[in-house]
Amino acid sequence: MAKLILENPEKEVEVEDNSSIKGVCENDFNVPFGCEDGICGTCIVEVKEGMENLSERNEKEDELGLRDNERLACQCKIKQGSVKIKY
Ligand code: FES
Repeated sequence: MAKLILENPEKEVEVEDNSSIKGVCENDFNVPFGCEDGICGTCIVEVKEGMENLSERNEKEDELGLRDNERLACQCKIKQGSVKIKY
């Protein structure tokens, strides 16, 4: 199992390895979503720890010009281990 951690307020949720982080971000962390298709940028989260445990950036994330420590919660998956995010 992998672990997704919200920084503030601190909250931890276990998820299956290689699963999308969207469900946890939406249901447990209350991250706002818009298009859910990598276009609007509403779901940008800042990765505080564990970027290496997320899937590679996809084309949609590249096109939005995210900072190095940012990802789209509707696009990335957690591969394993733990990842701490903030939004
Ligand atoms: S919800 Fe629009 S980019 Fe993720």
